[in-house]
Amino acid sequence: MSKNFWKEQIEKKWKLCFLAPMDWYWDSAYRQTMKKVAPHIECITEFYSADWLVHSKMLADSVLPHTEIENPLIVQIFWKDPENFAKAAKIIEKYDVAWIDVNMWCPAKKVVKSWHWAWLLINECKAYEIIESLNKATKLPISVKTRLSFDWNQNLINFAKWLESAWASLITVHWRTAKQAYTWNANFEPIYELKNNLSIPVICNWDVENYEDWMKKVKNLDWFMIWRATFWNPWCFIKNWELIDHNWITRPWKFINWMYHPTLWEILEIAEFHAVKLVETKKEKKWCLEIRKHLVCYLKNFPWVKNYRKRLVTVETLEEVINVLNDIKIEFKTYLNSIPVEIPKENYI
Ligand SMILES: Cc1cc2nc3c(=O)[nH]c(=O)nc-3n(C[C@H](O)[C@H](O)[C@H](O)COP(=O)(O)O)c2cc1C
Repeated sequence: MSKNFWKEQIEKKWKLCFLAPMDWYWDSAYRQTMKKVAPHIECITEFYSADWLVHSKMLADSVLPHTEIENPLIVQIFWKDPENFAKAAKIIEKYDVAWIDVNMWCPAKKVVKSWHWAWLLINECKAYEIIESLNKATKLPISVKTRLSFDWNQNLINFAKWLESAWASLITVHWRTAKQAYTWNANFEPIYELKNNLSIPVICNWDVENYEDWMKKVKNLDWFMIWRATFWNPWCFIKNWELIDHNWITRPWKFINWMYHPTLWEILEIAEFHAVKLVETKKEKKWCLEIRKHLVCYLKNFPWVKNYRKRLVTVETLEEVINVLNDIKIEFKTYLNSIPVEIPKENYI
């Protein structure tokens, strides 16, 4: 992929959607599941330490291989010294990866104290060196995910201009400062202003629920990134009927205000698909710990799931997953083609 790839896409007026990176949740199985329902999205991996990738071939071999359906895959890395970033880029290149994203977003105290992640917002020279060093080491495009500022004392436009001058090809901004972590209400204004001052694509992240919500917030921004909303509605990226894989839907008229609402049957099918992919991709037994949290999330909008919660969070084999999903199908067979709002309240426990 050329370094100008994203600029070219903007010129073509594409609007891209990104699945936000998510440590402990996103893996090959989840990405395959998301791509199954929304083939047009771009997936970013959870963050990996550049230093670990350099020193552990075992780590690289366990996290970087991926299936064709996940392409073009973006790998996110973090660390502090530009040399290890460059070495990591050389390793990542070997795994058919589309581009590298640098995490300058994470506000965790212990890492910020050791001068990387969101701390780089305070040190634009170091951030510049990292992007420059990555660009020298690899032909892959380099992007950055960051925040409004560290503690309001930094200027986002100034910081982003440093990144742009080091040839960062795209920047994603989460509208809170590192000090605010997960508190405060959305204020997209500084991000709109940033876009007016940059020539590279700017992506907005945080509190985007679905495509319709994005249409309200997009203004001059280029693309958007969603994390939480995907948990209970993997179809949240869908903006029109053509984009849906028609093998995966039960009826064609569930767009309410632009939002695609999956039926119970669709959710149960996608949950089973996810479990099968987890078994295929995770060697360790811990795959069942992963699927438990996802099963509960998938069924979040169907409140009577409470009855099944205990079984969902204790599954240990693929057979058990399939059995519990089948039992739900049998008990609620009348509502398989219904979306949550259509299921009469008396069925809610
Ligand atoms: C548990 C957890 C893990 C996360 N892992 C990452 C990560 O690996 N890399 C990253 O850039 N952001 C990470 N994030 C932040 C999300 O990608 C995203 O920026 C944030 O949750 C806002 O998106 P949303 O409003 O659509 O949920 C993480 C967030 C949480 C809560």
